[in-house]
Amino acid sequence: MFDFHEPVPRAGTGCKKWDLLDRIFGEHPRGMLPFWIADTEFRVPEEVVEELRRRVDHGIFGYPVRDQRAVEAVARWWGRRHRWEVDPGWICHSHGVMGGVALAIRLFTREGDRVAVQTPIYPPFRWVVENNRRVLVENPLVMRDGRYHMDLNGLEEIFASGARALLFCSPHNPTGRVWTRGELEALAALAERYGVLVISDEIHCDLVYDGSPGHVPFPSVSPWAREGSILFSSPSKTFNLAGFYTAYGIIPNGAMRRAYETELNNLFMDQGNELGQRAMGAAYSAGEAWLEGLLSYLKANRDLAVRRLGSIPGVIPTVPEGTFLMWIDFGGLLRDTGLTAAGFLKCLGLALNKGESFAEGHQAFARLNFGCPRAMLEEALGRIEEGARAVILGPRGSA
Ligand SMILES: Cc1ncc(COP(=O)(O)O)c(C=O)c1O
Repeated sequence: MFDFHEPVPRAGTGCKKWDLLDRIFGEHPRGMLPFWIADTEFRVPEEVVEELRRRVDHGIFGYPVRDQRAVEAVARWWGRRHRWEVDPGWICHSHGVMGGVALAIRLFTREGDRVAVQTPIYPPFRWVVENNRRVLVENPLVMRDGRYHMDLNGLEEIFASGARALLFCSPHNPTGRVWTRGELEALAALAERYGVLVISDEIHCDLVYDGSPGHVPFPSVSPWAREGSILFSSPSKTFNLAGFYTAYGIIPNGAMRRAYETELNNLFMDQGNELGQRAMGAAYSAGEAWLEGLLSYLKANRDLAVRRLGSIPGVIPTVPEGTFLMWIDFGGLLRDTGLTAAGFLKCLGLALNKGESFAEGHQAFARLNFGCPRAMLEEALGRIEEGARAVILGPRGSA
């Protein structure tokens, strides 16, 4: 079993998280530490490395046939892990999850159409709508009893005013909500009533902790949801394989699937990367024990971060039910300082995603990626506690 405590140096490997760190966040005397972009610090399951090594050792990389074993592994995975029987014929290639989302938006909505998102939200959701000349309509989530909820009344108004599609994030980045079957059924009923296409991004589906309701695939909640939605996912968050850009759409609706595949074909983008397909097949076929280890490691990281951040006056961590991301409100602590959360953290040598990129006006928030060895997380928590003490004591107290 892999030792998740083990630090694996990544600087100099061409990874954005470490190699763009100083350029984006600046240098820091204690060394800037990255908790931003959503990949983890963990080596993938050994079975995946071995599969890649076997293929690389062959030394010839000509045109591949589509890896049917990988497609079948995807279908089995959804049946086994998410109790949803997927016909392998519904699975379409996608160049990364966002590549598929962009293609679906361009194909199934028209320029000027309204596309809804629920904020705070993963920033590329905004970009993919606006850059493709659709109109972004935001329906903010509402915080109740320490948890974010969908505002279905707000969504109904948006649907009633003619929105064509909802770009849905499940589990939700950055709040870590794992939507319950009841919430998904209510959403599906609303989308059905107004004929709104749901594009469901389920890239974080496997990273769900005990005690949460468990991930429910959106297309599985009703006959309409099955025909009226498109799901995108990939093994990239689960198994740390984002660099392959190997993802997939699951499109049970035959007409939509044919339209999607025709468009992929017209763009000469229907063939996946061979090594990515191999890695995906190996991860879904042989990575389950590794994933169980990862989940208990991440859960302990989450609990540690919630406990320590939650004991700092004026700091409120949202407890993620899934994902390795934590949405943290520093508003109470920083109220009189004139600092944004990301600015405060940067002064401590910590690179986190800034709240305002997920929702307007959220300068007091930041998103922490806790997918790292415990010692690295502890270093960050220690620096935040130290920084908070300095803020609380003020310039005179710390002098
Ligand atoms: C909700 C969500 N969708 C999509 C992506 C990116 O996926 P890809 O790199 O496969 O486009 C991320 C990465 O953080 C994400 O959090």
